Amino acid sequence: MHDPVDPKIAEKIDRLRKELHWHNYRYHVLDDPEISDHAYDQKMRELMELEARWPGWNRPDSPSRRVGGPALARFDTVGHSMPMLSLDNGFQESDLIAFDQRIRKLLGLEDQAVYTAEPKVDGVAVELVYEAGRLVSAATRGDGITGELVTSNVRTIRSVPLVMQEDNIRPVPSILEVRGEVFIRRKDFEKLNKDRAGLGLPVFANPRNAAAGSLRQLDPGVTAQRPLDIFIYGIGRVDDVYYESHWECLVALKKLGFKINPDIQPRITIQQAMEYYQYIGKKRHELSYEIDGVVVKVDRLLYQQRLGATSRSPRWAIAFKFEALQETTRILDIEVQVGRTGAITPVAHLAPVNVGGVTVSRATLHNMDEIERKDIRVGDSVFVQRAGDVIPEVVKVITSTRNGTERRFVMPANCPACGSDTVRLKRNDSQEPEATTRCLNISCPAQIKERIKHFASKNAFDIEGMGDKLVKQLVDRGMISSCADIFYLTEDMLAPLGRMGPKSARNIIAAITNRKTISFQRFLYALGIRNVGEHVADVLARAFPGMDRLSAAPHHEIEGIEGIGPVIAESVARFFQQHENREMIDRLMDGGVAILSGSAQKQDTLQGKVFVLTGTLETMSRDAARKRIEALSGKVTGSVSRNTDYLVAGKDAGAKLDRAVQLGVTVINEKAFIDILSRDLP
Ligand code: IVH
Repeated sequence: MHDPVDPKIAEKIDRLRKELHWHNYRYHVLDDPEISDHAYDQKMRELMELEARWPGWNRPDSPSRRVGGPALARFDTVGHSMPMLSLDNGFQESDLIAFDQRIRKLLGLEDQAVYTAEPKVDGVAVELVYEAGRLVSAATRGDGITGELVTSNVRTIRSVPLVMQEDNIRPVPSILEVRGEVFIRRKDFEKLNKDRAGLGLPVFANPRNAAAGSLRQLDPGVTAQRPLDIFIYGIGRVDDVYYESHWECLVALKKLGFKINPDIQPRITIQQAMEYYQYIGKKRHELSYEIDGVVVKVDRLLYQQRLGATSRSPRWAIAFKFEALQETTRILDIEVQVGRTGAITPVAHLAPVNVGGVTVSRATLHNMDEIERKDIRVGDSVFVQRAGDVIPEVVKVITSTRNGTERRFVMPANCPACGSDTVRLKRNDSQEPEATTRCLNISCPAQIKERIKHFASKNAFDIEGMGDKLVKQLVDRGMISSCADIFYLTEDMLAPLGRMGPKSARNIIAAITNRKTISFQRFLYALGIRNVGEHVADVLARAFPGMDRLSAAPHHEIEGIEGIGPVIAESVARFFQQHENREMIDRLMDGGVAILSGSAQKQDTLQGKVFVLTGTLETMSRDAARKRIEALSGKVTGSVSRNTDYLVAGKDAGAKLDRAVQLGVTVINEKAFIDILSRDLP
């Protein structure tokens, strides 16, 4: 037997639970917390201590119980009190128009019908049953008639209320069944898979599979570790309450503590629903969760009732689907590509498949480790996906359909372009090999082509016309073998090439000549030094006055620059030590390339301006901020006076901020500061 609970303590426990339910709702449902995480944790700790001391007062819907519960041997099944139907699909505008016409005919409406449109979230459908405001059970959809009881798992989802919020206007319904979609947000999904890969566990193909797998764990402790979220989109059985419309119902559910999708468009015409579909379709990649369409629903519940349902789906709603971003196809072959740094990347040739409106026939396999981790073989059926403009990739192999004819891929021992041995170098910090296989021959024609293409690309020298085909012709004919050779080309040399002619030849030479003067940053980026992208090139260009100083700088000097780590410093220093690279740079200069050096680029945009820095800046140290102000001829002082032009206030700014406000000095935050720094810069 447990000790009897002192009524005062019981009251305190109840109060803490109520407060924590409230703050949980503010944080996980409304995304608008009222107290700090720290204060929340303290209250939770207090509650857990009291609960441990007074087990007689433990309750399954305590906010402390979201961490799981005993593992099950199997899930019980449960019948839904009202069937959980599926939705009719539409794929084109005419489907939506036909849907609207049928509705108006069945209802005998002369006027426009009113709809609510919602994102169709790609997750797992669940039904949650509340009695007297408390979650008593939760089930998956199953076959629509019976589902699996996953109550302990659903309790671990932070955005599921264990106890409803009381609404002052109406009493909590005695029975309320709500329906919604359990899902995982993209960024949480990526992290989950990354963590799993790190542990050598199989990754999930997509957020929906991850959500389904997580919800169907027999051990709720495992589910509790998964970043599940939920949107409630409707109700099943409800007693004591009557709602006029679907939207009114969602608003009421929100007040009761349920999480409703913020991207819903209520009370619109069918034309507006069409615009919404197009709008959401464009915004699709920016949403934090995956969707596969929009659902358009007749808003008035009386109409919904009158329209009824077929055995499969309601007549009052339609799922207006987008083209899928993930499809299944077969790997026909695997081939390798040589990049500009000699990295050899395996690429899958796929049976062409339409993914989200684009035909995909190739996908990157990244490197040998990835191929082994995903166990990708030639002949496999696979999930491929594309998101926005990124290169399509193979997400997962469907191993169940293998028939034994699949072939493992072996990384070639020789570079397919130049024949030299391929290697996996040791990582700097260990004996482990890098993931990347490389060709180390810097004269490899494949590398040369890629280096030249990079050199001439948009964010580097930006030479129009110097693309894939021309570079291939020039290198294959031995007309150029280094980036510098570009500046020694003449019209006469180009004109006889295939698909050329005097006019194009003239244009290309003009484009080359036009680009001979270049900023230091672009020049550095164009060189294609390993680990030097645009950002690093910018940092280096700001830190060194010009090419002579940078190319002579020892490793430790480069590493001393803020934002430059040892790996970058090493590859920069090594690049300039190499004889061939120095020679190429000399040839570039001889060919007429002129670098706008740091001092020539230096601008005086902050001439005469006095800055004071206070608090912690997020994107740079205060020292770096000072250097950047000084580089633009501004001045930095230690204390605020009437002469101060700007106080840059970072996090936790203190007395200087007060003083600046007192003196009427302009106070700017970090973002405004960065805007000022980048104003008028090339
Ligand atoms: S309403 C009678 N609204 O789509 C069915 N469903 O194919 C009422 N889904 O199993 C469903 N987002 O899991 C509805 N905003 C939304 C939805 C949604 C996703 C899923 C749901 C259902 C499936 C129907």
